[in-house]
Amino acid sequence: MIIINEKEMWDAVTLHDVMDAIEKAYEIHRKGDYYMPERFIAAKEKNMMLYMPCFSSEYIGTKMLAEFPDNPKNGLPYLSGLMILNDAVTGQPKAIMNGSVLTAMRTGAVGGVCAKYLSKKDSKSVGLVGCGVQGLHQVMYVCAVRPIKYVYLYDAFNKDLSGFVNRLSEKLGDDSISIHVCENSTELLKHSDIVVSATQAVDPVYPNDEELLKGKCVIAVGSWRPERREVPDAVFKLINNVYTELPYACEESGDLRIPLETGVLKQENVKYMEDLISDEKNGNPHKHNDTTYFKSVGMGLFDLCAAQLVYEKAIEKGIGQKIDWK
Ligand SMILES: NC(=O)c1ccc[n+]([C@@H]2O[C@H](COP(=O)([O-])OP(=O)(O)OC[C@H]3O[C@@H](n4cnc5c(N)ncnc54)[C@H](O)[C@@H]3O)[C@@H](O)[C@H]2O)c1
Repeated sequence: MIIINEKEMWDAVTLHDVMDAIEKAYEIHRKGDYYMPERFIAAKEKNMMLYMPCFSSEYIGTKMLAEFPDNPKNGLPYLSGLMILNDAVTGQPKAIMNGSVLTAMRTGAVGGVCAKYLSKKDSKSVGLVGCGVQGLHQVMYVCAVRPIKYVYLYDAFNKDLSGFVNRLSEKLGDDSISIHVCENSTELLKHSDIVVSATQAVDPVYPNDEELLKGKCVIAVGSWRPERREVPDAVFKLINNVYTELPYACEESGDLRIPLETGVLKQENVKYMEDLISDEKNGNPHKHNDTTYFKSVGMGLFDLCAAQLVYEKAIEKGIGQKIDWK
């Protein structure tokens, strides 16, 4: 068994490797060749522990995430976690890795895969609302799939984004990409071809204004609770279909649950990314309006496929610390 730390995880894989693993997860999900029990949430007051087991024919992955809302105030990350990978045939543990890194790595890749299929090929700018851990990785992957030259940032609470800007430019490692901080999300929308939100917002992070949202590829990865939403109703007047990962997203996220309940969104207009990718690969691309929208709530199968990739690449490259249980 090996333990794989943050640096080793990133040394083992490329952004494109992880996006391929996410596409593989969609394919496995579409074929039904997995077992993913509903995630178990243990909550004590506002702090939550999430346990997400998932079985494929090759591996079993169990991600444990701690979501502690007060952490950012104390300079600690909102999410922290652990991933355990077991062999699916023998049950033997194969690897333990940093679950927070895995979450950001795979959630960023989910956003990147969305940008690859739903954004315009010549998109030059991306706007990020919510400059936290997920947000940083969303921008990294979007920049890996589109010729991005401008990044726009907005955060409602973190007003000094200098540290975030430094981290992001280091991760992007491309001087030709310029990064700008916006006063509000209206300014961000005016400049961005692709907009990503990665917040814990309760109410939409953009103004409910069709003119401002028109023509954007909207990617929403935050606010997965039923009472929370990031995207306003105006988006549903501009798109033909909203894409998501699995039917459960319609219950779990206010971004889908609320517009479905109010009738702004019709159930037949909720489509799945796995079908979009499969149809596109089989030469039957979906027709989209000028504005597109993807809502992510995540799933354990993403973690499992990303962890399998990290583990197998780590073994191939001799990365990771071997642990002897005896
Ligand atoms: N879809 C998925 O698979 C997936 C995976 C992991 C996390 N998430 C979700 O993504 C969200 C962000 O997680 P994180 O780890 O990056 O948290 P984080 O605390 O590191 O970052 C969130 C940022 O959003 C900002 N923010 C909060 N409300 C805002 C608002 N209304 N407008 C603008 N900015 C706002 C905060 O100030 C913070 O900087 C959470 O809701 C989390 O549950 C989703």
